[in-house]
Amino acid sequence: TAEMRADLVRFFCFQVFHFAQICFLIDWMMGKCVHCCKGVGRDLTTRQKERKISMALRRIICIEDDLLRKKSRPVDKFDEKLHKLLDDMAETMYNANGVGLAAPQVAVLRRVVVMDCGDGLIEMVNPEIIETEGEQDGPEGCLSVPGRRGMVKRPMKVRARFQDRNGEWYEIEAEELLARCIMHETDHLDGQLYVDIMSRELFDEDDPQDEETEDSKA
Ligand code: NI
Repeated sequence: TAEMRADLVRFFCFQVFHFAQICFLIDWMMGKCVHCCKGVGRDLTTRQKERKISMALRRIICIEDDLLRKKSRPVDKFDEKLHKLLDDMAETMYNANGVGLAAPQVAVLRRVVVMDCGDGLIEMVNPEIIETEGEQDGPEGCLSVPGRRGMVKRPMKVRARFQDRNGEWYEIEAEELLARCIMHETDHLDGQLYVDIMSRELFDEDDPQDEETEDSKA
């Protein structure tokens, strides 16, 4: 009958409304949880969603490529193209399990680097080393020099200034791995590779199961 049909429709509408409510609640809770978790995955996906841009992996060029030996030019336009480059570089770095990546490694001769030494993504545009202090000697690898590692002396502490993706200037004080990483990446911008300054090459028999160094490619 008509009345039964109306009842059925009402029941159905109520169920749909209820379902939507639950979906909304779950979405809200997930959002809260995601916000609580520190991590770069979140930064990237949120940024990707917000900006509605698609990231892409770029090809990392290797030591034989002459582009790695060129000096990169400063960035003067803080536009969509730069943002896309930064997003792509971060995705490429994470995909390759690196802790750092410089633009010349993806064949772009601009002074742009991305890093993540475990404390989240750092984007640096036009980075400059202001001051260095102390010394550390340790193993280093590079995504553009696959399968090789070497011992490299670097400063223990580094003070650097850089611009963010919008052109705002910042200063950073870094130690240990991050200091090493900043030196390694800024070297890339001047066409220098770690193999030029390493004290000796490392081979598997030196420390066969060193995961730390396995992950420290930049
Ligand atoms: Ni490198």
